[in-house]
Amino acid sequence: MIQEVLDNLIKTDENPAVLKHRILELTRRYSRLVHGGNRPGYETNESRKIFSPGESGIPYAARVFNEDEVEAAVSSTLDFWLTLGSEGEKFEKQLAEFLSVKRSLLVNSGSSANLLAVSALSSPKLRDRRLLPGDEIITVAAGFPTTVAPIVQCGFVPVFIDIDPVTLNARTDQLEEAYNPGKTKAVLMAHTLGNPFDLSAVQDFCRKHNLWLIEDNCDALGSLYDGQLTGSFGDISTQSFYPPHHLTLGEGGAVNVVDNMLFKVIVESFRDWGRDCWCASGVDNTCCKRFGWQMGDLPEGYDHKFIYSHLGYNLKPLDIQAAIGLQQLKKLPDFIQARVDNWNYLRNGLNECSDFIDFCLPTHATSWNPGESFSWDNSGHQSNPSWFGFMLLVKPNAPFSKIELARQLDSKKIGNRMLFGGNLVRQPVFVQLAKDNPDAFRVVGDLEGSDRVMKDAMFIGTYPGMTREMLDYQIETIQGFCQCQSH
Ligand SMILES: Cc1ncc(COP(=O)(O)O)c(C=O)c1O
Repeated sequence: MIQEVLDNLIKTDENPAVLKHRILELTRRYSRLVHGGNRPGYETNESRKIFSPGESGIPYAARVFNEDEVEAAVSSTLDFWLTLGSEGEKFEKQLAEFLSVKRSLLVNSGSSANLLAVSALSSPKLRDRRLLPGDEIITVAAGFPTTVAPIVQCGFVPVFIDIDPVTLNARTDQLEEAYNPGKTKAVLMAHTLGNPFDLSAVQDFCRKHNLWLIEDNCDALGSLYDGQLTGSFGDISTQSFYPPHHLTLGEGGAVNVVDNMLFKVIVESFRDWGRDCWCASGVDNTCCKRFGWQMGDLPEGYDHKFIYSHLGYNLKPLDIQAAIGLQQLKKLPDFIQARVDNWNYLRNGLNECSDFIDFCLPTHATSWNPGESFSWDNSGHQSNPSWFGFMLLVKPNAPFSKIELARQLDSKKIGNRMLFGGNLVRQPVFVQLAKDNPDAFRVVGDLEGSDRVMKDAMFIGTYPGMTREMLDYQIETIQGFCQCQSH
């Protein structure tokens, strides 16, 4: 009898499907036991760690996941396909559907996505609309460095305009001044901290001068402009899936091709070694004429899999990352709502600090009204950010500096960040660039807003892992600091 049970157990263990099922069951149990603190903050779940004010620490952002992501990662690892495959294909399709864009292409980071988006503009496949070395791309001076770095890396010239320190987005009144006839070919900007930039003004400007538009949507997945998702307005847009972002694959990013499918071919080529062939990994002869091409100065019939039409890279992620992403996508609507709710909660709670601190306004809003509403300018446009963070802009009359506030938050273990690189032109890399080549970039105006943000702005988190206790503790700490400093 005992021998029979043992034999059966051994037999089950030899069945891969049963074994995998058991491993995944145990994985889920393990994850519930170990990763309780990473569950969404809006869940009332006992497995969330108890928050202990001043001791636990509140990151400004972190991975938010449950056993679904861990199971997906282990399952994909057991399958061991590894390179971008069926999970990647599903993720790309679902992301594109979410954004209502023609295609999304997975890459290994948001920075890679920006590099690919800018590289794509150099492709000879764009014929007379391709960018040539020395052509100019208008961007903003304050933000994340790898929004701008690809412009220089690809041999183009960034032209910096200023930002409004309250929306953190481009001063679109400077666009015409930045325009250089015959040289300006594109606009590339981020929706800073999730706040959509003035897409109406930027799109009008791009249409008027026949310019490409790249939206860096890395911090803004789920933000709306006139009811339409950001990342679906430009020619190309980009996403980051690094942990602080709206959803995470650990590392990762995406290039979204909004409408023009030529960009799908070009971006994929740059992503995948620069090859002309578009076969998926492990597939041959998708074009049905693998040995029937003649390109460049190659001999007739040279294998299409080894024909290169661009100076490419290899910027693909792993299929395991895509498997995690598919689970994250299911949670995305709740994540987006949580970011909005957390921002509103902080905004209401911190209102009494308004004597010393300014807060962000969504683009086109003119003021915030207690509760959850805004007054809007008369442009007829509105934006609805899915906030990446909650900005605190210390007013010039405040009896404390941003650094003092940041130190206080640090001492209370409240995560806080600068607005990335601040005025990028003041960063050592751009100072050096200007020394090496004074024509490497151009600046419009005095960048007063970018300097202001560099000096006075910081942000705290709105990520979906925040619980009400964490938000309350942040509000109490900042309120207490403002009161204490004003006496
Ligand atoms: C606006 C913006 N663009 C690009 C990136 C780069 O993304 P990644 O860290 O995935 O390279 C970031 C990073 O946070 C970002 O905030």
